[in-house]
Amino acid sequence: MPDLAKGTRESAFVFSLAAAVVSHSIARACASGELPSCSCAPAPAEQAGPDFRWGGCGDNLRYGLQMGSAFSDAPMKNSRSGSQAFRLMHLHNNAVGRQSLVDAMETKCKCHGVSGSCSVKTCWKGLHDINHIAADLKSKYLAATKVIHRHVGTRRQLVPRELDVRPVRESELVYLVSSPDYCTQNEKHGSFGTQDRQCNKTSNGSDSCNLMCCGRGYNAYTEKIVERCQCKYHWCCYVTCKKCERTVERYVCK
Ligand SMILES: *[C@@H]1O[C@H](CO)[C@@H](O)[C@H](O)[C@H]1NC(C)=O
Ligand SMILES: *[C@@H]1O[C@H](CO)[C@@H](O)[C@H](O)[C@H]1NC(C)=O
Repeated sequence: MPDLAKGTRESAFVFSLAAAVVSHSIARACASGELPSCSCAPAPAEQAGPDFRWGGCGDNLRYGLQMGSAFSDAPMKNSRSGSQAFRLMHLHNNAVGRQSLVDAMETKCKCHGVSGSCSVKTCWKGLHDINHIAADLKSKYLAATKVIHRHVGTRRQLVPRELDVRPVRESELVYLVSSPDYCTQNEKHGSFGTQDRQCNKTSNGSDSCNLMCCGRGYNAYTEKIVERCQCKYHWCCYVTCKKCERTVERYVCK
């Protein structure tokens, strides 16, 4: 994908999500005992509450972050992979992805006590599932900041392109170049265009025909789908189904 090798907003999102997923998987794998080199996280430093004690098996985020950064950041620390600005951009976005894991730790608990009365609780820190993290990074993608690589004092750094003089924040995704026009096909810039893409006439999200077809309109056609239906279970042990046919309308961009 030539687009990912450039410093666009989309590549910022993809790199940050990949870095988050790597650390997330390692932290979870530690807790589930799949890795010989790590196990559950130690009990959190903060005081347990009056109605619970720390216990259970927390996701080992610390180990996940440590091994995840070693893995995700290694290619960018190699001075041959693109310009310095490009490497700084991806290192920053990898860190943003991992930070979103730290921000999304939640306390999970299990009840004990007489017939589930919950008079005693055991709690541990666990990661949110990856869909939650991806949604967080998507909103950061929409709010990403365009940066340039320039001298700040004696060192060259990434700073916001707009005039406000401030360093980039740990919580914001950054990019260096504007995205190509994804509406029209341009192989050199890594854009497939949206012609012939299926769109949704009733949605008003990014899959809507309005947005996806970039104002060119769409063609409708019908398609017959054959499905298994009216399934019955027979003792013992098999299932029989009928075949049902239904017609659906589909829309593709002009
Ligand atoms: C189209 O979008 C609507 C509203 O978001 C949704 O309910 C429906 O399932 C979508 N249809 C298809 C085919 O994806
Ligand atoms: C479509 O947009 C309207 C506001 O413009 C919003 O209230 C509604 O929830 C949206 N519907 C879907 C399916 O996203």
